[in-house]
Amino acid sequence: SRRVFSGIQPTGSLHLGNYFGAVQKWVELQNLGGDTIFSIVDMHSITLPQDPNVLQNNVLKVTASLIACGIDPEKSVIFQQSKVSQHAELCWVLGCLTTMARLAHLPQFKEKSATLKEVPLGLYLYPVLQCADILLYRATEVPVGEDQVQHLQLAQHLAKAFNNRFGYTFPIPRAVVGDTNVCRVKSLRDPSKKMSKSDVDSKSRIDLCDSPEIILDKCQKALTDFQSAITFEPEHRAGVSNLISIHSLFTGQEPCNICKEYSDIDTGKYKLVVANVIQDYLKPIRERTEKLMADPLYLQEILEQGSRKARSMAEETWQDVRKRIGFSSQ
Ligand code: TYM
Repeated sequence: SRRVFSGIQPTGSLHLGNYFGAVQKWVELQNLGGDTIFSIVDMHSITLPQDPNVLQNNVLKVTASLIACGIDPEKSVIFQQSKVSQHAELCWVLGCLTTMARLAHLPQFKEKSATLKEVPLGLYLYPVLQCADILLYRATEVPVGEDQVQHLQLAQHLAKAFNNRFGYTFPIPRAVVGDTNVCRVKSLRDPSKKMSKSDVDSKSRIDLCDSPEIILDKCQKALTDFQSAITFEPEHRAGVSNLISIHSLFTGQEPCNICKEYSDIDTGKYKLVVANVIQDYLKPIRERTEKLMADPLYLQEILEQGSRKARSMAEETWQDVRKRIGFSSQ
């Protein structure tokens, strides 16, 4: 049967990339029924330095945002990764089935480690922990943005490697990725990069909780070129095309129809149109998030319930793994 798992790092507010690349799909899958499990992956976050107070608050903030976006704690399990110790345990076992060469080739590791003088071991192990997350719940479907596809390939490889060596234990997890437009929302300041929580320039992304004024400012400062027409040419006019893509994600209109509709205005005015669309859509999400953030006890209770459910599913797999690899004494 179908079981959906995915994760998100509590490194800051959710942005449009997280929403369109992942969370919107999570809500859809949740409403189709079956098991849906979503983890706030704090252990992944500490692969880069985090302030403990900020991290703790971000776990609640991400929980609030997910619920505000439509994740229903009655239908889905929402939990904090570090509360379920089996993630770290299975990570170790899978790490023993992985080679260093394979990990060193993963593009996200290459990208992140290139900017650091000293590369933490955790950053290297990051994708193995991600595989443990997925396999621990015997997930069959993993809805993610395009940047996670290589990590999913590693999960498939490790599931097969484990099954071949120890007998069938894990279904092979499938990545659920939208079309390129959806699964790769780009930075507003440098459309050659993806929109990212870790970008130091906060104007590069729009957070789901940004106020209308901030949304307007970020749209107005979005990088475009010296041409004023609204045309969709992702290769040659990445900036304005990214705005059109974002517009299209919000309204469901095709980019070519957007270009026709706004053929009589320039990019300056078009930025105001896009800002307006974003402001209207995000308003209820922002308001629901604020309301939820005012009730931290409720959020903690949701996470507590979630960890309990997650732990019992994880324990079942972990006991099976222990037996298969020879850790069990009976
Ligand atoms: P994270 O926290 O970076 O991002 C969460 C989800 O948002 C997607 N995403 C994007 N999609 C489109 N355009 C963008 N600009 C964009 N930025 C982010 C990501 O693809 C992701 O789906 N390693 C994962 C977290 C993780 C995980 C897992 C995911 C840990 N364990 C197990 C799936 C299964 C990550 O860093 O996500």
